[in-house]
This record gives sequence, structure tokens and C-alpha cells, in this order.
Amino acid sequence: MSSPALARSQRSAPTPAFDLQRVRADFPILRLKVNGKPLAYLDNAASSQMPQPVLDRLIRYQTQEHSNIHRAVHYLSETATAAYEGARRKVQKFINAREEREVIYTRGTTDAINLVMHGYGRALLGCGDEIIVSQLEHHSNIVPWQMLREERGCKLRVIPCTDAGELLLDEYHALFNEHTKLVAITHVSNALGTVNPIKAMISHAHRHGVPVLVDGAQAAPHLAIDVQELDCDFYCFSGHKMLGPTGIGILYGKAHWLEKMQPYQGGGDMILSVSFDKTTYNAIPHKFEAGTPPIAAAIGLGAAVDYLSELGMHAVCAWEHELLTYATGAMAALPGIRIVGTAAEKASVLSFTVAGVHPHDVGTILNEEGVAVRTGHHCAQPVMQRFGIPATARASFACYNTFQEVDQLVAGVRRVQKMFA
Ligand SMILES: Cc1ncc(COP(=O)(O)O)c(C=O)c1O
Repeated sequence: MSSPALARSQRSAPTPAFDLQRVRADFPILRLKVNGKPLAYLDNAASSQMPQPVLDRLIRYQTQEHSNIHRAVHYLSETATAAYEGARRKVQKFINAREEREVIYTRGTTDAINLVMHGYGRALLGCGDEIIVSQLEHHSNIVPWQMLREERGCKLRVIPCTDAGELLLDEYHALFNEHTKLVAITHVSNALGTVNPIKAMISHAHRHGVPVLVDGAQAAPHLAIDVQELDCDFYCFSGHKMLGPTGIGILYGKAHWLEKMQPYQGGGDMILSVSFDKTTYNAIPHKFEAGTPPIAAAIGLGAAVDYLSELGMHAVCAWEHELLTYATGAMAALPGIRIVGTAAEKASVLSFTVAGVHPHDVGTILNEEGVAVRTGHHCAQPVMQRFGIPATARASFACYNTFQEVDQLVAGVRRVQKMFA
């Protein structure tokens, strides 16, 4: 009898609200064969692929527009500056930020969180102040706060999660006291796929007068984000996880916080005037963008945002949800598979273990079948500790993935099981 997975892709699949075949044709890398098999790229939570319009935009910038920005009156500098600032406006619109100056370019999510740790944490927090994080955080939303704890004597309080990977909201509420100064939580868990109820969590924190930083690295590529509706104080994400280039990310911050915060780095472009006696900092966002930024990458991110906006984030989300539901059903039907992370609301991520097989072996054999998944602790060791496992294999989906690729994954896992039987 064929598996439900294999049977399903041969039936007519639900069609995404966009033309999947046209979308796939936009991604040259998806045509690769790996080990003689068609590539099934299911490692999008680590880094997604770039479509041709983003690649074309990067080439156009490098061949016709490249120069340093904000500094000269010549044609190329003005063109590059307009493209760089234009990309900022695209991001502003994409996340519905109230003002353009609330959008700061960073190197990625990690850099954005470290910026807030420095600018808000070091400047405004002291001994005994408390920061609430969750058990579902990526290391990049834990370690910076631990560094602050070392330096300033702050305390970290942790929201625990259920066996399904859902945060315990009563426990969250109980963590607040007069020392609570920041909540730093992930929107979507990279290890489990849980979508946290961040809107309610933000309103709760605000009722206590506490600002909230949201790590949106795994949310911005998959969900429609409206920072005004969420009312978050900070929201961070990375270009390379949302069809854009590496080396670029975004920190959204409410203007009143950004204005209060100290700059992260000193140097060119972040100043209005410098003398040996006194330096006056530039206005936001430039106060946080010292030195020559990754201009090409920022413009590439603008093109990625255009691409996603054209597909429509609601359509992207709906299609990825179909893939996740299908993959979850097919994997759960296999004996010896443990799905790690079974929250009611999930996005894009399917973490699993195969009984008796180390996840690295699962990943290696899947690679022989052309299937790219991530194996390991996913930079979320506290999540692994919570579930009592060292690692998982993780398949993660993007808008260009197909049911056939899920079938390829499931067939690969069956092969793993046969080899280790
Ligand atoms: C939830 C989450 N936060 C933060 C990061 C760090 O992102 P970056 O390495 O792009 O800074 C990642 C990367 O996997 C992530 O999944």
C-alpha cells in the first residue's frame, strides 16, 4: 500500500493563490540536482533562496548604480542613496511601520537584538532589573541578555512551555513584578514552529508598562506582519530568511525608544558633527547605522520584499500551511517518528526524530536523496533540553516548496528507517 504522502501528491493538490510553477521558475537554484536527484530544499528556516528579480536587482545595482551613499553629489552616489532609502520605505510598508525612521538596517536578527541590548539594555537597565524571555528562544535572543546580566547584574526570567511547545501564559503573567524592564520573545520558534500569541503577550506587558522586543526571524518570511497592530516596541528579522541576501536585517523600533537609546557603534554617518570636545549624533535611523552599510544587500532586501508583497503574505502563509499540514500528516503516519513541536498554531517548521537514528544520520541519508534538511539543536539548546533530546531533524518550508518535495522527504525518511532496521 502506498503511503498517504505518496498518494496525496498524485491527487490534485490545493492550488496556492499564486502560480507555484511560475514562482519555482523564478528560483534558478531549485533546478539543481543533488546526488543525481532533484533538489528538495527544505532548510528555509536556516536560509531561504533568492528569486531572479532579487538577483537581477543585485546585478543592476553592482553594474549600474554602485557607489557609497549619503556622501556625495555625483550621479552614482545619488542613485545608490535613493535605492538604499527606497528599500527602507519598502520595508516600512511591508511591516506597516508608522515612520520610515523607525526602520534600521542591521546585519541580521542577531545584530538587531544586540543593538537593543546595547542601546536599551546597557543604557537603561541596572542591577536587579529583570528581562523575561521564553524557553523557545534562539540563542541570539538569550546570549545577549546573559551578557547584560554579567555586566549589569540583571536577571533573566524564563516563560516555560508545554509538551506541545506552547508557552504557558499564566506562568508568563506571574513573572511580572516591579523589576521587569523588558520582554524579549520570539514570534515563531525556529526549532518547533510554534507561533506565539505575541499580540496578547505584548498587551499584557504594556499593562505593566514593560516594552517588548519580538524576534521575528521566523515570522517575517511566513506571516503578514503589522508592527502597529501588534504594538511591539521592537521587531527584528533577517533578509536571508525571506528571499533576500545575507548580511542584512532589520530592527524596527518605536521612534520614542530609538531616540532614547544610545548608538550601538560610533563612526561615519551616525554623526551630525564631531570635534575633539564633542560629538553630536545623527537623527534616527542614521544614529544606528555607523560606517558604510551593506548597500547592495539592503537594496536586495527591498527587492525580496517586493517579491513577497506581490505574492501576498496571506497567500504565502496559506500555501506554507498546506505544506506543513500535509508533511505533518505524512510523517506522523510513519512508525517511529516523533514530531517535536505540536502546537495548535505553527508556521513552516517540522522538527522530528527517527527512533534509533541520530538526526545527523537522518540528514546525511536525506542528502543522498537530494533532500536538504537541518539537523542539530538549531541554536536553541534550551528547547532541546526541555524536550530531553540532543537534536532533531528539521524540515522547513518556503513559498516555492511543493507536495512532491514533501513526498521526497517522506520517501527519504523511509529509506533511513530501512537502512537502520
Ligand atoms: C528565531 C531566530 N532568531 C534569530 C535568528 C538569528 O538570525 P541571524 O543568524 O540571521 O542573525 C534565527 C536564525 O536561525 C532564528 O531562527
